[in-house]
Amino acid sequence: MSSESWDVEALVRRYDEVRSHTESLAAPLSPEDQTVQSMPDVSPTKWHRAHVTWFFETFVLADNEPGFAPYEDKYWFLFNSYYEAVGPRYARPDRGLISRPGAHDVGVYRTNVDDRMRDLVTGLDAGSLDKLAPTIELGFHHEQQHQELLLMDIKHVLSLNPLQPVYAGSPSERSEPDPLGWVDVEGGLVEIGHDGVGFSFDNELPRHSEWLEPYRLADRLTTNGEWLEFIRDGGYERPDLWLSDGWAKVKEEHWRAPFYWTEQDGVWFEHTLNGTWPVNPGLPVSHVSFYEAEAFATWAGKRLPSEAEWEHALVADGQAEGSPTVGNLADRETYHPRAASTDATPPGGGGLRQAYGDCWEWTSSAYHPYPGFHPAEGAIGEYNGKFMSNQMVLRGGCALTPPGHARATYRNFFPHQSRWALSGLRLADGGAP
Ligand SMILES: [Fe+2]
Repeated sequence: MSSESWDVEALVRRYDEVRSHTESLAAPLSPEDQTVQSMPDVSPTKWHRAHVTWFFETFVLADNEPGFAPYEDKYWFLFNSYYEAVGPRYARPDRGLISRPGAHDVGVYRTNVDDRMRDLVTGLDAGSLDKLAPTIELGFHHEQQHQELLLMDIKHVLSLNPLQPVYAGSPSERSEPDPLGWVDVEGGLVEIGHDGVGFSFDNELPRHSEWLEPYRLADRLTTNGEWLEFIRDGGYERPDLWLSDGWAKVKEEHWRAPFYWTEQDGVWFEHTLNGTWPVNPGLPVSHVSFYEAEAFATWAGKRLPSEAEWEHALVADGQAEGSPTVGNLADRETYHPRAASTDATPPGGGGLRQAYGDCWEWTSSAYHPYPGFHPAEGAIGEYNGKFMSNQMVLRGGCALTPPGHARATYRNFFPHQSRWALSGLRLADGGAP
């Protein structure tokens, strides 16, 4: 999954950067904040901190550290997420019941594994380094994925607190949506998927051909202002706009607005990591499910792009592999999508704004293996492949995504009804599907 060559110093430096960043994200949170699991999809902050540590202990130290013994036997059970090959694990919906180890003791566990990782890496000969570096690098990207999840999850935890706590950052000025523009793409026989230069997850491989009819993509994300029009036009009350499974969810879960919106005296408010504020019309709509995104596109007389269309549009727009991924990503520390008007001209002078960052963009593509896909050997092969069923692909990253996770070929995935992830949409038009 990687072709990067590492030296010991660079590997240790990167290890320290990634690991300390997780701790800095958890720093504003009290031990009590870090313990709550507000719904089964959400994991407690301290569980994320421990699980990413378990990953290095299990997949790097266990087979390579002389005289290896787990830091704590029971942690192997508590902090395994979903790896069947590694053994039994604690039930996911009950992670909030793990009052011990406490947040402080998780920090002690992290320090222990960090010391052992540094000892191991600095003692590796060149041959062993080449062999182990890809797994360690996977551990970096795994931990970054959890950095994003930690923020999505704590957002939900804090949303249920009547004190309306602010995690960090400050809200955008009120703004109105920019006029919607369109970017035409020729299509034809195109190649998508990772080219093998630099890191990718296995699900981005292999690179392969796809046929695309001519199409066009909206030059920005769909906004809250447009979503308010959808609501006012009975968007959540008209079965003709919805897929059957989506309409069933609307009824079952009483959906009438995006996940974090609440109505008070006829005014819509939105919970964000920056606090709870009146819905800002110029910002991208966020925390909508695939079903909602699809219904909105139907209402607008448009559709969602396929993942191949999305990826190829970025190539055609000069924003693909090799270009810097510029956008409202986690390094900007906004912790929330920003208006398209705040996005400078995309790199390469292209027309697609907000391609990286702001909101993960739902696509019309089911999360399936690319032609010729092979998961890695052993337990690590469970990382992506076994989830390729009943989920949809999202592209582009969000305001909580570390910059290393925004690339043209990156495939995120969530079930159709998921709303707690920072997901939005970009409309497409013309061509297939
Ligand atoms: Fe994980």
